[in-house]
Amino acid sequence: MARISVIGTGYLGVTHAACMASLGHDVVALDVDEAKVTSLAAGIVPFHEPGLPELLQESLASGKINFTTSWADLAAQADVHFLCVGTPQSPESPAADLSQIQSAIRSLAPLLTKPCLIVGKSTVPVGTAQWISDYLVANSPAGNDVHLVWNPEFLREGFAVQDTLHPDRIVLGIKNEADVSTLTDIYATALSGDTPLVVTDYATAELVKVAANAFLATKISFINAFAYLADEVGADVSTLADAIGHDTRIGRRFLNAGIGFGGGCLPKDIRALRARATELGLSEHFEFLKNVDEVNKSRRDYVVELAIRNLGSIAGKTIAILGAAFKPDSDDIRDSPALDIALLLAKGGANVRMHDPVALPQVLTRNLPILAIENVEEVFDGADLVLHLTEWKLYRELDPQSISKRVANKVIIDGRNCLDLALWSNAGWQVTYLGKPGSQAAL
Ligand code: UGA
Repeated sequence: MARISVIGTGYLGVTHAACMASLGHDVVALDVDEAKVTSLAAGIVPFHEPGLPELLQESLASGKINFTTSWADLAAQADVHFLCVGTPQSPESPAADLSQIQSAIRSLAPLLTKPCLIVGKSTVPVGTAQWISDYLVANSPAGNDVHLVWNPEFLREGFAVQDTLHPDRIVLGIKNEADVSTLTDIYATALSGDTPLVVTDYATAELVKVAANAFLATKISFINAFAYLADEVGADVSTLADAIGHDTRIGRRFLNAGIGFGGGCLPKDIRALRARATELGLSEHFEFLKNVDEVNKSRRDYVVELAIRNLGSIAGKTIAILGAAFKPDSDDIRDSPALDIALLLAKGGANVRMHDPVALPQVLTRNLPILAIENVEEVFDGADLVLHLTEWKLYRELDPQSISKRVANKVIIDGRNCLDLALWSNAGWQVTYLGKPGSQAAL
């Protein structure tokens, strides 16, 4: 079993650390945030991720994982260091902010006195791995004995544990052939199943990650562009997606039309990719990603426009919103379409009431002009309009009959196209889907 360190305890880091410990590796995880380290060491995961708290608590109980803020502890306890820090969008530009990567590498390098392996998992602009490798060789006492492998991560929030333990593929960008076996030993369980292994160079490995996210984002905006067309001509975008999805070259997944993608990955990754392509003189070839981003953002305005069409004016109207998280099974509200729509409506003078089964504490930290309601039934009280914006199972299981008594108007816009039309319309509701006939979207 390997002696592993994990640098950074966000979604990626905590999940990777707990999963590696559950496989029997000895793991030390570092974060510069002392409060976070204290909470993790007590078995508390600071975000919502199904199955992760249990896995962490088991690993703590078995002694296979510990947390630290000390770089010296980290260097002493591990031979393989996984770099899992965040690379958010820069506050000043569409490019990625690499300051966490740079700071981690600068802290680690002087402590690398023995041969060791650094494994990059963060999502980075192509060329970063080569820079890290050069920096470590030049600035570590162990010099050329410090090796780097680029091993991008593809986990989805909400399925993070499953995706880490049983990934769709393992990609290793390497410079030294000998490093492959260190990683294949660490990932032996997944590789003994049917997870394919792709061994390549740094640049390809870095690009695999951003290409995958750019492709997924493009699929979503592609189908959302057709949702506009469907609304215009009375076609059904869901049936369209089913029909083209039967073609295995296309596939049905990530073709659900609605209010589009959000979160801490897809939006910033397509912007960072465009920024990097522009730096490399290739901006015209990546212009399509600007369009993908614009179609995606326009979906939020479109729902507001539908609300205005429905209500005449939104000023002073009560609007109930189901969902705040950018997707179900997560409490992440970064770049959340649901939250953005709520804020646009509040800005337009609406009284916005919002429910989410897990993300309300995140909403409350931002001090927004939105009334956060914990009880799902109560969110409907007095509503002139209801918007379904995050597809939690809980909302599909609502009884529209019993909710009817609470609202002022039985009108709902389904921004995720997944509520049961027969159920809601039999209870007397007017349901508007995005890009589906029978709906009011093309009023
Ligand atoms: C995404 C990728 O799916 C992961 O493979 C990747 O590892 C991760 O980014 C990352 O870079 O770390 P995630 O951000 O967790 O994962 O979320 P997704 O499941 O990809 O969903 C992204 C957004 O697309 C959500 O807002 C979701 O509601 C939306 N979506 C998804 C649609 O609007 N339509 C669809 O058909 C599918």
